[in-house]
Amino acid sequence: MSDTQPFEPPLLEYRSVTKTFTGHTEDLLILKDLTWSLPARVSASITGESGAGKSTLLHLAAALDRPTSGTIAVAGKPVSALKEKELSGFRAKTVGIIFQFHFLLKEFSVAENVWMPAWLAGEPKKSAQARAHDLLAQVGMDSRSQDYPGVLSGGERQRVALARALINDPPLLLADEPTGNLDERNSHLVQELLLDLVTKTQKTLLLVTHDRAFAQRCQQSWRLTAGTLVPEAMP
Ligand SMILES: Nc1ncnc2c1ncn2[C@@H]1O[C@H](COP(=O)(O)OP(=O)(O)OP(=O)(O)O)[C@@H](O)[C@H]1O
Ligand SMILES: [Mg+2]
Repeated sequence: MSDTQPFEPPLLEYRSVTKTFTGHTEDLLILKDLTWSLPARVSASITGESGAGKSTLLHLAAALDRPTSGTIAVAGKPVSALKEKELSGFRAKTVGIIFQFHFLLKEFSVAENVWMPAWLAGEPKKSAQARAHDLLAQVGMDSRSQDYPGVLSGGERQRVALARALINDPPLLLADEPTGNLDERNSHLVQELLLDLVTKTQKTLLLVTHDRAFAQRCQQSWRLTAGTLVPEAMP
């Protein structure tokens, strides 16, 4: 009898991905024939100079943008081939995104910001609300659920944004400088929450950060340079 594990595709895979933007004077080549993959339940960080293309790389994985050529697959499914009407379901259920700025809806309460994406994805309101409450408790924000984002601090908003990113239980979490705007204490809190999620809830995390210490707490560290990803030497 074989003791080999059943084949599991990488959770995120870039195959020969090239991305160019059309500039005024010349085209910008941001990703250059990138082939790279991330196994399920692993955390990986990406660092690199400003303008290197880190956000572009994440946007492609979230299907917020399309590659110029090549394919991107999430959980074995080619994202770049999804039709327009399949995209919102993919974004709602397969990926959770956290940005440097929280993008919470200011006219809705903390609780509403968290449960609404689940309700919009078809979950009954009561159960979405109950799960939102649990997630807000996990990020230490349940006592603020009736507040509006405008009265929260930056770190508090980011914790709510994290709860919102998790409400549809996506296997892949994409975080683009999630602590870029926070003080040391809140940055540490968000770091702990994100890294804990990978181990406790078996998420796959792709993190873009300028914070080298945070980057090196991930299981894999990569650097985006000259349009491709190279392993970052650990200290
Ligand atoms: N929609 C677009 N049209 C044209 N150029 C773009 C577009 N989006 C990004 N770029 C350019 O592509 C390059 C990579 O941008 P990107 O935002 O991915 O960099 P980054 O590595 O995330 O930088 P930072 O660390 O400053 O956030 C930049 O030169 C940027 O100006
Ligand atoms: Mg960026």
